[in-house]
Amino acid sequence: MNELPEHVRKNREWWDHLAPDYAAGGERAWARDEPVWGIWHAPEAEVGMLPANLVDKDVIELGCGTAYVSAWLARRGARVVGIDNSAAQLETARRLQRQHGLNFPLVHGNAESIDYPDASFDFAISEYGACLWADPRRWVPEAARLLRPGGRLAFLTNSFLMTLCAPDENGVAATDRLLRPAFGMYRLEWPTDPGVEFHLSHGDWFRQLLGAGLEVEDLIEIWPSAGATTSYDFVTFEWARQWPSEEVWKARKRG
Ligand SMILES: C[S@@+](CC[C@H](N)C(=O)[O-])C[C@H]1O[C@@H](n2cnc3c(N)ncnc32)[C@H](O)[C@@H]1O
Repeated sequence: MNELPEHVRKNREWWDHLAPDYAAGGERAWARDEPVWGIWHAPEAEVGMLPANLVDKDVIELGCGTAYVSAWLARRGARVVGIDNSAAQLETARRLQRQHGLNFPLVHGNAESIDYPDASFDFAISEYGACLWADPRRWVPEAARLLRPGGRLAFLTNSFLMTLCAPDENGVAATDRLLRPAFGMYRLEWPTDPGVEFHLSHGDWFRQLLGAGLEVEDLIEIWPSAGATTSYDFVTFEWARQWPSEEVWKARKRG
């Protein structure tokens, strides 16, 4: 545990603490057949996070939490591995595996350094997992290493714009003002909790991905459908209908 980078240690404790609050959401998501994404439950048909054919593909979920995304992928025929930094989150994931009769490897570890050989996977995915809580200078090259040539990476995280507009206070939604500088943003610690997050400008994401040998194929800014709701309080529907609150990056390993 002491060998883990400081942000990984902090996030491990924080997510072990948060895990009970994520169990009910995990249960609901495991019970779904059709994937939906992010805090607005954007349908897969709109976002296209997943490759069309996952049958017999090797897939890894980076920061799987309760592993509902992994479950959706396994049901589509993929050979899935879920990795997560929190033992407590993985405990929920294992309980839901038993409940739903699905079995795939769940690894307790840091997505910045994964114990699998180079080119082990066809697809890597993260929804608010490693893409938000791990250091992109470490997890992006690690994801690229694990992908086969032509393999794909897709991740969904908070939009950079929303992070600029989010007040420090807990429970106060993003405003229509820029509250923090864009330049110099990378690692972000909120004064209200001990977690460490990573929020990159689009330029920084491009450089991380391209530098790791990944070609950017798409950047989708999520526009919630009329009537969409969320249980999270850091952004309102009215805000998210005017500006992107979430973004999806899709990239492909060169070769
Ligand atoms: C919000 S959950 C993501 C899972 C799920 N998609 C969701 O939205 O609930 C964030 C997960 O990222 C995991 N995580 C944070 N840092 C990580 C790291 N360095 N390596 C692997 N997982 C990490 C946490 O333990 C937590 O389970």
